[in-house]
Amino acid sequence: MSEIWRPFPTGDTPDADGRAHDSEPTRVVLDMDTGVDDAVALVMAMHSAEIVVEAITSVAGNAPVDECTRNNLLLSELIRDHDAPPVARGAASPLSRPLVIAPEVHGGDGLGGVTRSLPDPHHPATDEPAHEVIARVSRAALASDLDAGALPVHRRPMLIATGPLTNLALALERDSHALDGYARIVIMGGAFDVPGNTGPVAEFNFYVDPEAAAVLMASGLPITLVPLDATTTTILPAAMLVAHAEGAPPARPGRSLGCILYRALDYYIAFQEWESGLPGGYMHDPLAVAAVIRPEIVETEKVSVDVLTDGADRGRSIARAAESGRTIRVVRSADKVRFLSMLEDRVLIPAFISREYAGRCTKHDHPG
Ligand code: RIB
Ligand code: CA
Repeated sequence: MSEIWRPFPTGDTPDADGRAHDSEPTRVVLDMDTGVDDAVALVMAMHSAEIVVEAITSVAGNAPVDECTRNNLLLSELIRDHDAPPVARGAASPLSRPLVIAPEVHGGDGLGGVTRSLPDPHHPATDEPAHEVIARVSRAALASDLDAGALPVHRRPMLIATGPLTNLALALERDSHALDGYARIVIMGGAFDVPGNTGPVAEFNFYVDPEAAAVLMASGLPITLVPLDATTTTILPAAMLVAHAEGAPPARPGRSLGCILYRALDYYIAFQEWESGLPGGYMHDPLAVAAVIRPEIVETEKVSVDVLTDGADRGRSIARAAESGRTIRVVRSADKVRFLSMLEDRVLIPAFISREYAGRCTKHDHPG
């Protein structure tokens, strides 16, 4: 039986997540293989008052980990300048397999090639590896609960993972309780009643590191899984992107989020139009962030999920009746209209119109 995922904190009693509803923003760690849709998700998160991004960690997937790390630095600095959240470099390859990347979808740099002509970020990544950052934020939340007693459980942070789950699995390998401090772990991945996007049955994040995905699905942690079944219904129409970009003022060189997003999304949408005739781009990762900000825009169902790792079934996700101790919430559908409204308000308008880093550029302008 599907259930509406409880409304986001609004000031009344704790819900099934053990989270009281209050207006304080939820602290979030973003673990991303920053390609184009990850970038849109990061921009949405950083323009949403309901959450505060505490740290951004990178993992290899859409692009090599150093490209993903550089993209996280470039985007977070552009938006928050000197008080940007720390960015940590994560796993350069899956737990036990060679890395598979997706340059045809996201470009060699992860952002449609636009970053090749941008200056380097002002700040380096932290020295702390991603899996340690992820575990440290979790421990701090538990320590706060136990020591101070003032921090009730529902004030714990949330973890949003939009790439292969290697960093999360590495944290659990070192300490099976490493993620216990997160109130909820929201993961973009998997495919159930729709075809895969990496071969006939597998979704890319689960295909790249199926062993890591299997560990997380069997962990018993409070996971919400956002699969292709939902994310292939949340599409950014090419016409919407063009309309916002064309209405934008000329970009200021070197500080134009609009220019970076326009060029990256142009590449991403062009691939999807070529591959499937889709007049737009799938917003896989932004839906995971939107579901944290406004859980009422998705419907979830409680199941148990197995991930296969061998042969033609590599990365295949199978849902079955919920088993005690390893029940997760799978998003079965999303409110497309409300999602697109969030995308306009929290990504397109800030990037093209309403912020000092807004602006457009043509395909030939120098974005840097
Ligand atoms: O299958 C889609 C997912 O794989 C998205 O997170 C995309 O960014 C890639 O990581
Ligand atoms: Ca991703």
